[in-house]
Amino acid sequence: MNRTELKLTLRLIPFLDSVEDVEDGLVRVRDRRWLAWHPDVVTALFRTDRALRHPPSRTLSPLLGTRSVLWLDGREHAAYRRTLAPLLRPARHRAVVEEIVERAVGDLPETPVSLSSWTRGLTLRIIGRVVFGVDDDVLLTAFSRWLDRRLGSRVRTLAHRCLTPGATRSDPRLDALLLHRARTAEPPALAAFLPADDLRDQVVSLLFAGHETTASATAWTLHWTSRTPGLAERPDLLDAVIAESLRLSPPATLAGNRMSAAGMVITPSIYLAHRRAATYENPHVFDPGRPPPPPGAFLPFGGGVRLCPGRDLALLEIRLIVATLLRHRRVEVTSPIGPPRSRGAAMVPPPSLTVVATCRR
Ligand code: HEM
Repeated sequence: MNRTELKLTLRLIPFLDSVEDVEDGLVRVRDRRWLAWHPDVVTALFRTDRALRHPPSRTLSPLLGTRSVLWLDGREHAAYRRTLAPLLRPARHRAVVEEIVERAVGDLPETPVSLSSWTRGLTLRIIGRVVFGVDDDVLLTAFSRWLDRRLGSRVRTLAHRCLTPGATRSDPRLDALLLHRARTAEPPALAAFLPADDLRDQVVSLLFAGHETTASATAWTLHWTSRTPGLAERPDLLDAVIAESLRLSPPATLAGNRMSAAGMVITPSIYLAHRRAATYENPHVFDPGRPPPPPGAFLPFGGGVRLCPGRDLALLEIRLIVATLLRHRRVEVTSPIGPPRSRGAAMVPPPSLTVVATCRR
């Protein structure tokens, strides 16, 4: 691993900040691997996506498994996406999301609570119900602990990556519980419609991809809302606030790897595309009134054939969580902001960021 790769792995966000002014919007990470964020390159990649390969992330593949949808390609990938699309339609899950959100907001104490932990617990409960059809707090807590032990610290992530490259880091006991839950859901929930032979990898991928990013997006939206006077009283601006929060604080800083037939790997950087001064005026300023972005400049959910299949469900969740919280509570996000943290390629608010949600009386 060279110095650039080491910085990218250990100090992802400071590294991305350090290359922000590179005008080409393209940086070489190692011999045949590049980071790209110029809108023309991003547009060209997404347009030709079907012909590209999508090599696994070295950090995530030992967790999600080699058969995860995130790195399937060709016909297998297209078939899996066709199965998934109707199962993730937001209309199918609206009532469940509403019920879980109302309960979580009702249970929120009026004392300070860690914002990212609260949103993570809530979005995991939602995706758990979507995938399994039932609440199983014991299973979800075990899943969350397993994930935390592997992604909770950059140093640990790097140690795993370098000391045991490619080794799978699944936990057989947890896998058995997840599989049992997925197979026995009654009435059948999403997991019952997934291909049986790689069920473990797909269930873990959905639980992971379906909550970490949504939790982070919700926390950032609440953070920006509470820092912008008057926004809490303007529900008509909520979609614009969410979009601007996804621009300035994108939960996924990088999209998936793209590999050409010649073996060149290009990873689109969402974070850098959203902060490009040539595209966005005053890119570091939170401004929900911005004009629509040009093609290739706004990609919080990636694009091409890998465009996030959970996008609409995630937007529904963020909208409902933020709107329900603001309707019932006066929200104050406290503590100095401090630098954001990375978990895998996700960007999350620092754990010190707390929310105080006083009841509206
Ligand atoms: C705000 C919330 C979310 C964000 C920002 C987000 C972002 C992303 C991004 C950037 C990718 C990679 C796309 C690419 O490489 O071009 C992705 C893929 C994926 N996401 Fe999401 N996501 C979110 C929520 C969800 C939810 C709720 C689910 C599931 C219920 C989900 C499931 C997936 C899956 C399965 C993939 C892999 C798709 C493929 O490789 O074909 N995501 N997401």
